[in-house]
Order: sequence, then structure tokens, then C-alpha cells
Amino acid sequence: ARTGSPSARGGWGPGACSGAGGPTACSCGGGGGGPPAPPHASGGYRRYAWTGADADCRLWFRMQAEARRLDVETDRNGNQWAWLGDPAAGDAVVTGSHLDSVPDGGAFDGPLGVVSAFAALDELRSRGVSFKRPLAIVNFGDEEGARFGLACVGSRLTSGQLTKEKAFELRDADGISLPQAMEAAGHDPEAIGHDPERLSRIGAFVELHVEQGRALDLSGDPVGIASAIWPHGRWRYDFHGEANHAGTTRLVDRRDPMLPYAETVLSARREAELAGAVATFGKIAVEPNGVNAIPSLVRGWLDARAADQESLDTVVAGIEAAARAHAVRQGVDLAVVRESFTPVVEFGHALRDEMSRLLGESTGDKVPVLGTGAGHDAGILSASIPTAMLFVRNPTGVSHSPAEFAAEDDCVAGVRALADVLEGLACR
Ligand code: GLV
Ligand code: MN
Ligand code: MN
Repeated sequence: ARTGSPSARGGWGPGACSGAGGPTACSCGGGGGGPPAPPHASGGYRRYAWTGADADCRLWFRMQAEARRLDVETDRNGNQWAWLGDPAAGDAVVTGSHLDSVPDGGAFDGPLGVVSAFAALDELRSRGVSFKRPLAIVNFGDEEGARFGLACVGSRLTSGQLTKEKAFELRDADGISLPQAMEAAGHDPEAIGHDPERLSRIGAFVELHVEQGRALDLSGDPVGIASAIWPHGRWRYDFHGEANHAGTTRLVDRRDPMLPYAETVLSARREAELAGAVATFGKIAVEPNGVNAIPSLVRGWLDARAADQESLDTVVAGIEAAARAHAVRQGVDLAVVRESFTPVVEFGHALRDEMSRLLGESTGDKVPVLGTGAGHDAGILSASIPTAMLFVRNPTGVSHSPAEFAAEDDCVAGVRALADVLEGLACR
């Protein structure tokens, strides 16, 4: 923590990146300066995969790594790695997170984990420790899935949970395919896919992340350890009706897909309450999207999550049944497609317990263990390698919003905790 504030909004963090232009418009060279000015009116970031904003963040990562004399590489799937030691030696300890964002995202979700990783390395160097295992800092590509609709594309490809063929089918809202976007950003899409060789070199991955709830605020702790990630998924609902004139079409003659869509949003809320789950329609596309036209198509995306698979199945089935009934009543056709799914993740006890022990040793405190409804690359990789997560207190719990926040003291506590864990894993 000696290199300055690890706050993601700090002058040297990727919060300083302009989301608007290409790398040349970037003020993220790490040179300090005043607080960065987020480029969007909301105060949030729009750092989508394989865009100029993404390139800005990648450039920032490279500069931070090179300033620390780390070897930087981009893997076949577009994830960036900064190595201390020889990757081929194996059993590496890896830390990091992601730098992309949701639409109008906050400064901490993702960047805090990457910034803290660099700061923790600085802290370890200032402690004068020697490394017995290779250490890497990683920036996973396209964690949020804001552009192509699928979350954790970089880690899913690497772990084999997303095939090259399926990845090639992904398209953004403008119809640009993932391989086209990769190619335009200078990355060879032909090489993407399962990378067991890379995974075999990793002994442990620890991701630090801002908490996306208020458990730590309520318990009064700056840092916690993750226990589990709820099963979750995304479903696309296509309500097909009939376009017609908004002024001249009698109400009884309409096949308006907006009506069953609106009723389905309310049903989702009800079903989630009944199942003790959460369900959200947060994204919608309307065709033809004219103020004076009845829509021909309303496409809504459902994000549903629950503490266990049975509750998730219940809420998802309940919402679909309600949507079909609403659609029939309005003479509208409905197609539902599951676009992605992530099963429950239980982080392995061996690494978790080791982290608790290391943090207990350094602070004398028992570190709380908490679950989360948010998805992470650590959750994806947990199927292939030992992974664990540290959470840093978020006083309001707000996330995926410009209001996302963590206090500087808590960010420093997060860096110290990460450094303690890395020291215990890589230096003893
Ligand atoms: C990612 O942050 C997610 O939980 O969707
Ligand atoms: Mn997120
Ligand atoms: Mn995240």
C-alpha cells in the first residue's frame, strides 16, 4: 500500500481511464494527477469488451505491470497476465479481477481487485519477502458480458466452459460478432478456446472484490472471505406481436407485446418473493421502437439468482409459466431462450481455511465468511483450480451503479489482507 491509494478512484487506478476514446484519449498512464473525470453524465463507466475503453484499460494494466518489472502477456482468450517468476515453473499463485464494466458501472467492481493486486505486490516487496512460487496478476477479459450478453467470457473460454464455436455465435447489439470485435481490436479470434496448459500452471487464484451487498457493513468488518456464489443465469424473452399505428388501431384489434412483457416483469417480482430468490428484467429491446407505433417485438432479458438450485428452478419456471399465460391473453407469441447459466459455487474449504488462518495470524481477528449473489471469474475457475475470494466492505451495498463505493481505509485493509494471503501462499 506504499505506492499510494489503492482506491479504484485514486489517481493511479484505472478509474482514470477515459471510457470514450481509444488509447490515445487515455489519461490512465498512472502518473497521478487529480481525480479522474468519468466520461459519462451518470458518473459511471462504459468499458465494454474489445472497445477503445477496454484498450485504454489494457494499456493501463500493461504500464502498471511494466513499471513493476513484470512480464506481460495476453493469452489466447484475451486475458492479460503480469508475471513475477517463471510461469513454466508451475504452481503459480494468481490474483486479480477484471477491468471491464456494466453500462454506467461503478469504479470498484473489477478494478479494485486489479489495483489491489498491484498494490499488494508493492506491499510484499516493501516487506522484503522472497517468492518461492511464481506470482501473476490477471485482468480477465469481458467479465460483465455487457456487450455480448454472456458474462465471464475470458475465464469461461480458458476453463473450457465456453467453446470457440459458441463464442463465435455471440453478437453485440449492432450485430458485430465476438470474433469480428476481437479482430478489430487486434486479437486473433482463431486461437480462442480451452487452455488446460495455462490452468495447469496455476496452484491458486485469489480474487479480491468490492462487496456487492451490506453484510460487512452490518457486521462491522472491513474485509471478508467468500463462501459461495448463488446459482444464476440469463434468459431472453421474445414477445412477438404485430406492429401497427398507435393512433388508429382499436385497443381490441391490437397484438401489443409490451403488455405481456410488462405483466411478466411484475410476475417476476412476485415469483422471486415467493421463492426467496431475486429476478430482474434490466435490459429491453423494442422493435421498431417508435413512439407512435405499437411494437412488433419486445425482447427482455431476465437475470435470476437464488441461494440454491431448487429455488432458482422454481422461480424461473414460475416466471415462464406466467409469461406464457400473459402472452396468450394478448394474442402474442413468446419464445424463451436460456442464454447462460452458472451453477452454485462452493469455494473449497482448504484454501478458504488457509486464508482464514493467515488473516487471523496477521490481524488477530476472525474474518467473516459470506456468500454472494454476484458472479465472478473466481467462480468460473473454481471448477478447474483452487480459487478463493476476499471482499472489501461497501458501506451502502450499491453496485453496478456509479454510486458503488468503498472507503479508502477499507481498500487499504483489503490490500493488506491480500498481501498477507499472497505472502502466506507464495513466500513460505
Ligand atoms: C457480475 O457482476 C454479475 O454478477 O452479473
Ligand atoms: Mn459486476
Ligand atoms: Mn466484478
